[in-house]
Amino acid sequence: MESAALYGEVNAGGVRKVANLLVPLRGAKKGLPSMSMITLKVNGRSVTLDADPTTPLLYILSDDLALRGPKFGCGLGQCGSCTVIVKGQAVRSCTAPVSTVAGAEITTLEGLGSSEKPHPIQKAFIDEQAMQCGFCVNGVIMTAKAYLDRNPKASEAEVRQALSTVLCRCHAHSRMLHAVTRYAKGVKA
Ligand code: FES
Ligand code: FES
Repeated sequence: MESAALYGEVNAGGVRKVANLLVPLRGAKKGLPSMSMITLKVNGRSVTLDADPTTPLLYILSDDLALRGPKFGCGLGQCGSCTVIVKGQAVRSCTAPVSTVAGAEITTLEGLGSSEKPHPIQKAFIDEQAMQCGFCVNGVIMTAKAYLDRNPKASEAEVRQALSTVLCRCHAHSRMLHAVTRYAKGVKA
């Protein structure tokens, strides 16, 4: 198995359209929201956009930059499917206003590797066949990557704890934990 979900190639477009049905437009009590020029550094590339500063980072990544790695799951910071890495920390992009990450290094799943050249953590997921539908896998990989970058000697129990708030409705947790453990062994070696 080599799923497109491992590289952010699954089309989950229309995030803003769907989310706007659920979340009232922020910063727009009357009329149009106020816009600002905001510069982001995403996967090593600098991009400047005209955006409402309160727009969730996830909407910008998905709708404006066409990055399909981070997924809209709950939109409330609870499931982890939208996780990206900002300045080395796992951040839930559905609740992070874009203005709070202006100028910071942002890495999405696409920034790790590709199907031609997967990152070792993506390779570990392939080797362990560690997913079912794949919707949550972005959150698991990005959360694990950020955690192990900062804690390369973490025990399996600590990794399990770090991943405990990323939800998987397919109950593929144990396979994913095997994949992360396999990757962690390579990090320690
Ligand atoms: Fe962001 Fe669920 S979509 S935490
Ligand atoms: Fe389907 Fe986790 S593999 S939600």
